[in-house]
Amino acid sequence: MLDPEIEAALNDQINFEQTAAQEYLAMAAHFERRNLKGFAAFMKAQSFEERDHAMRLFDHVFSRGGCVKLGSIIEPQSEFASPKAVFDAAYSREQANTRAIHDLYGLADDKNDYPTQTMLQWFITEQVEEEEWCQEAVTLLEMAGDNKSALLMLDRRYGEQAEKG
Ligand code: FEO
Repeated sequence: MLDPEIEAALNDQINFEQTAAQEYLAMAAHFERRNLKGFAAFMKAQSFEERDHAMRLFDHVFSRGGCVKLGSIIEPQSEFASPKAVFDAAYSREQANTRAIHDLYGLADDKNDYPTQTMLQWFITEQVEEEEWCQEAVTLLEMAGDNKSALLMLDRRYGEQAEKG
């Protein structure tokens, strides 16, 4: 049986992941509008990943006899000053998500909820990867600066990355 406090925290995390999915889709739309199709494909893939994260939590709640209650999702930011600003926002989001996952793990630890801790270990590893690609993109876009050729090269690179999955 799922502890009510953990059930509520897992529901909050589902909302957090769904919010991230919406934000990444808005970032994809931002890039589509500018014909930066590679970055757009990359952000679409991130959006699908976030939806998948929400579903992992969704399935865990029901497999433990809990219940999912979906909340509303606030309108995401849709305009950004530059491609780097988009990835800066993604990085902030992922850092906040890492904190949320760690807090959730801490709560599961306090409550001796071993199955939730085991399930969250996947997320802890995933967050390391998520922060890594954000940091890399921010650094590369910083280096590219106002150089349009470099930007187009990065657009192609991120498009290829999205295709590989
Ligand atoms: Fe679901 Fe990007 O973490």
